[in-house]
Amino acid sequence: MGLSEVIKYIVDKPLELKEKNLLVNRSKEIKNLNNIIKYHPFGIFGISGETGIGKTTVLNFIKCENVFSKRITLTFRESVESILYDLLYNLSKGLEKDKKLSKLAKETKEWVIEEVSTVKGFSLGISLYGSANTNLQKSKTPRFNFFAAKEKLGELLRKIVSVKGKFALIIDELDKESKSDTLQIVDALKNELLFENIITIMTLPYSIYREYKFDRLRWNESGNLENIFKDIILLEELTDSDIKELLLRRIHKFMNIIPSESLDPIIEFADGNPRDVLWMLSKVIFENIEKDILKKEDTILTIKKITNEYLTELKLTPLQKKAFELLKDLTGNRDEFLTILQQNNIKRTTAYSILNTFIERKIIITKGTKLKLSGKYKFLNL
Ligand SMILES: Nc1ncnc2c1ncn2[C@@H]1O[C@H](COP(=O)(O)OP(=O)(O)O)[C@@H](O)[C@H]1O
Ligand SMILES: [Mg+2]
Repeated sequence: MGLSEVIKYIVDKPLELKEKNLLVNRSKEIKNLNNIIKYHPFGIFGISGETGIGKTTVLNFIKCENVFSKRITLTFRESVESILYDLLYNLSKGLEKDKKLSKLAKETKEWVIEEVSTVKGFSLGISLYGSANTNLQKSKTPRFNFFAAKEKLGELLRKIVSVKGKFALIIDELDKESKSDTLQIVDALKNELLFENIITIMTLPYSIYREYKFDRLRWNESGNLENIFKDIILLEELTDSDIKELLLRRIHKFMNIIPSESLDPIIEFADGNPRDVLWMLSKVIFENIEKDILKKEDTILTIKKITNEYLTELKLTPLQKKAFELLKDLTGNRDEFLTILQQNNIKRTTAYSILNTFIERKIIITKGTKLKLSGKYKFLNL
């Protein structure tokens, strides 16, 4: 068994129920979501966290006991309109085979197809004839019929509830949107979704969680997210030992060619993100695919090579470089970091601003009150 064999065990895709043996941690969050579906009468709930942290995976493990549910994965996300159409299409398509809902579902689906083909056909026409064609511009430009689509969605949702009782609508991939687009779409749909017996659970970009938290704590002047979301569940980074566990569950068969210590630098690189650890491990394996055994030095070499390649963008000033070297191997609180910088002749105000920049750019990451260098930067040669 060579290193190449490992590749298929570390593919990056959301886990499914049948792969439960590979899932680490997250039982608390999954239980929380199950309880939301079970006990809340209605509401929109978010699940947030950085990309690759496991949002889709967690959604896949939700159990909707005694609650009718549909999962929707959005794919057309060019605009608020296309998201709404995509949602409506996928939802109605998923209900086509349901005896009591199939009539309305089919009608709705056909309506979406018809609308979209008109709009698409028209915009294709414009691009074929060029925008200089004034006739075409003067004629009525068909648009996505946003209000009609909203109404159709409302109608379908009310029908579902009347036939099935409680309904859990699970929407994935909204986390890929920009914050403002996501808010716009959720705001536009809230009247349809905030309806007795409808529980909506959607993935959200991390930035929305931050803002939501500030709203709840009244730190935002014009807080309104709390009016939309009943709660947002944050998926935090996993611990290093969880990440190790995640790897071992996948590649335990290969411990004779991948000694545990060779995984440590990769785990450090990942900063608790499952996707990052899988990605870097597969990079490391590819880079060393001819070798019989993966040594720790090999691992470090690959990570250095890759991070140095990706991070040429970093462009630190000489003073920032100095600070970087000073803080590189430390873990501590803010004051301790500032003290170190000042003891090394960096002025207080400069030290403050450098530290803030590092935190903003995620060069230094925070865990509670503790700060440390992100594993992404640990292997960097400045
Ligand atoms: N708790 C977990 N245990 C094991 N593997 C996980 C876990 N969470 C995520 N993964 C893996 O990490 C990768 C990213 O997960 P995914 O659910 O796609 O993240 P997101 O939807 O937040 O971008 C996938 O390959 C998935 O299998
Ligand atoms: Mg996802």
